[in-house]
Amino acid sequence: MPPEKSPPTANPGSRPGSGFNRRDFLRGSGAAVAATALATGITEETAAADPPKAGIIPADGADLTLDVNGETHEFEKVEPRVTLLELLRNELDLTGAKDADDTTATGCDTVMIDGKAAYASAVFAHECAGKKVVTVESLATAAGVDEVVEGFVEHDALQCGFCTPGFVMATRAFLDKNPKASLEEIQKGLGGNLCRCGTYNGITACALEIAKGGA
Ligand code: FES
Repeated sequence: MPPEKSPPTANPGSRPGSGFNRRDFLRGSGAAVAATALATGITEETAAADPPKAGIIPADGADLTLDVNGETHEFEKVEPRVTLLELLRNELDLTGAKDADDTTATGCDTVMIDGKAAYASAVFAHECAGKKVVTVESLATAAGVDEVVEGFVEHDALQCGFCTPGFVMATRAFLDKNPKASLEEIQKGLGGNLCRCGTYNGITACALEIAKGGA
C-alpha cells in the first residue's frame, strides 16, 4: 500500500516548496485566456474600436525568441494559441514533457520556468519570452546526469515511465527550493503530479535521500 498516494490525490495543487499550486495555475490560465482574447480581438474593449496596442500578438502569429535549456531559439510566426508544450515537442523535438489528453491533470508536462515548476501545456509559448525554460532533457547530458535522475533509477521510481519526466522536474524544482525537506514536505511539495502506476514510494525515497544529503 503506497502511503504516498493519498497526499497527491488529496491535495493535488499543493506545492508549497516550489511555489506552484492549482491557484497559481488557474490564475495563470486566466491571464492566458485574457491574452488570447486580446490577441484574437474578442474583448469588449477592442470591440469598442480602440486602435491595436503595441505588444498584442496578432492571431496569425508573431516571431518569438525563447531560452530553452540555456540555448536561444528563434521561431517565426508563432500563433498566440500555441502552448509551450506544443512548441517544445513539435518544434524543438524535446519530447520529455508529455502531452496527456490536452490536460494538466497529471503533471506529466512539468518543466521549469525561471526556476519554478510549471505545466507546459498550461502556458502559452509567448508568455515565456524573456524567461528561462528548462526541460527534463537538460538533466541528462554528456556532461553528467542529475542526482534526481540517478535517484529515480536507484529507487525504482518508475514503471511505465509516462509520468516520470514530469515527476523528475517537479522533484528537481522542489529540492532546489527545499534542499533539506522532510518526508511530509516532499509529499506535499510533489502533490501537483500524479502517477497511475503508484511509484510514489520510490519517488519520495529518492527525494528524501537527496534532502538528507545521501544521494
Ligand atoms: Fe506509470 Fe507513473 S510510472 S504513470
